[in-house]
Amino acid sequence: MLNSIKTHSLTNKGQELGMMYFRVAIILFGAQLVMGLIAAIQFLVPGFLFEIFDFSVARMVHINALVVWMLYAMIGSTYLMLTDETGEEVVGIAIGKLGFWVLTVAVTIVVLVYIFVQIGAGTETTIWLINEGREYIEAPRWADIGIVVVVLIFYWNVFATYMKGERTGIMTVMVANLLALAGLYLAGMFFTDNISMDQFWWWWVIHLWVEATWEVFVGTLAAYALIKLIGAKREIVEMWLWIEVLMLFGSGILGMGHHYFWIGTPEYWWEIGALFSALEPVPLIAMFVHVLYDWGKEQGIAKGKGETGTVIANGPAMAWIVTNAFGNFLGAGIWGFFHTLPQVNIYTHGTQFTAAHGHLAFFGAYATILIGMMYYGIQRAYGVKRMKATFKSKMAIFMITFGVLGMGIALTIAGYEQVLIERAELGAGWNAFFTAQNLPWYIQAQTWRAIMGVVTFVGFIYLVIDMLTIGKHAQEVEA
Ligand code: HEM
Ligand code: HEM
Ligand SMILES: [Fe+2]
Repeated sequence: MLNSIKTHSLTNKGQELGMMYFRVAIILFGAQLVMGLIAAIQFLVPGFLFEIFDFSVARMVHINALVVWMLYAMIGSTYLMLTDETGEEVVGIAIGKLGFWVLTVAVTIVVLVYIFVQIGAGTETTIWLINEGREYIEAPRWADIGIVVVVLIFYWNVFATYMKGERTGIMTVMVANLLALAGLYLAGMFFTDNISMDQFWWWWVIHLWVEATWEVFVGTLAAYALIKLIGAKREIVEMWLWIEVLMLFGSGILGMGHHYFWIGTPEYWWEIGALFSALEPVPLIAMFVHVLYDWGKEQGIAKGKGETGTVIANGPAMAWIVTNAFGNFLGAGIWGFFHTLPQVNIYTHGTQFTAAHGHLAFFGAYATILIGMMYYGIQRAYGVKRMKATFKSKMAIFMITFGVLGMGIALTIAGYEQVLIERAELGAGWNAFFTAQNLPWYIQAQTWRAIMGVVTFVGFIYLVIDMLTIGKHAQEVEA
């Protein structure tokens, strides 16, 4: 992938910029995993890096890097597909490139401050310069403002290109959805000293991102990818896309109530949250069925024409996208549904069960498809018609998926133990928490999580090596 930008098989400037975003995304993904490993070791050896690099810091960098690499990969994917969809060169590409550099310098400074300064006094200066203290989106305010400016540039690129070119269904959903996605970020930027109110708005960003706008975004990526990777018919993928949008927003927006059970919001949120969030898995099933349906259909048509072999133009990209279709349903749909009713959530709230769901959902719904898009970008960068999975591609997808699934199962067991001992048996107090943390079931589960984290990390190394080499390899095969 590093070489890919120089190979100039890319047919337009948008794709070049997309690849630049992908490169930073993959570096941040690596940083995320290293931080996760440190935090996982700290569960087992609490003194590890104590007062040098505390759990709170490792965890913060872990999940902020997660969100930022995903946003980078999402922006990269958008630039990658923009010209294909609209038939136009990206409008204002030069300023788009400038935006990339500004953002990347800002992100680098923020990460360095997180790692070396770590915490502040909790004053206005801290909020402006070090850390805002809002889980997942902790960037200090100066960076917040910078992010808004760069996102406006990005949005201008997308919107102006869309207005100038062909307005496909995919791009129409993309343009409308990106406006909502970017706009929601503002809800997490202002300050109030009322913690209930702060949480109320903070969830507008977090929940309405991952369970509404990001899901719709994934729908547009999948639609585009299915056209490109297996030659699916645009009419069909776009029709599915509109249905997905309807169902995702129909359930996901009010589904936000499942975060309003215990933060001091009015009690009517219990019913609203329970009902609408319980419906959220439905579109995720639909998205899963759609991918398999289109794949089976195209393969069947090819077979009917007497063609042998697969219709898939990019093996690793398609493998990751199918993993996405299932992982989204499993991690977000099933693991989400488990604890979404208040009757269950009263026991599971904030246990390792939540962490299990968080890992499986973020991985299944987003990491997978974004990695798939990167593989597609590499194929374009090397200008090859077909890109088959290599041994390294297979090791990467197998070890990463197996590792994250293993972590999810281990954390589910840890959460189960917390529910039984800490919540049901001992009544959820301070002592109950520590008793549960020290019992063998919990410690064993955390040990397995750390082991599976290492498996994930080894898979990541395979992924990076594969991304650096697969394009050239595919070129040689084709030659
Ligand atoms: C891709 C989509 C999703 C992602 C990435 C995701 C991710 C997460 C994460 C990271 C948390 C923990 C938040 C925190 O730190 O407090 C969380 C909480 C939660 N999620 Fe999801 N989620 C998704 C979809 C869903 C769905 C579809 C449901 C329900 C059907 C659901 C139900 C819940 C519930 C009930 C909580 C609160 C857990 C608690 O009380 O501790 N999620 N989610
Ligand atoms: C090397 C692999 C990884 C390890 C060892 C690891 C470890 C950890 C640890 C120790 C935490 C803190 C949990 C807590 O506060 O109790 C955490 C949180 C989290 N990690 Fe990971 N992680 C890894 C990979 C990933 C991946 C691949 C994703 C998603 C794509 C992810 C998403 C998250 C999320 C969303 C949270 C917050 C969960 C919550 O608050 O409920 N992690 N991780
Ligand atoms: Fe949610």
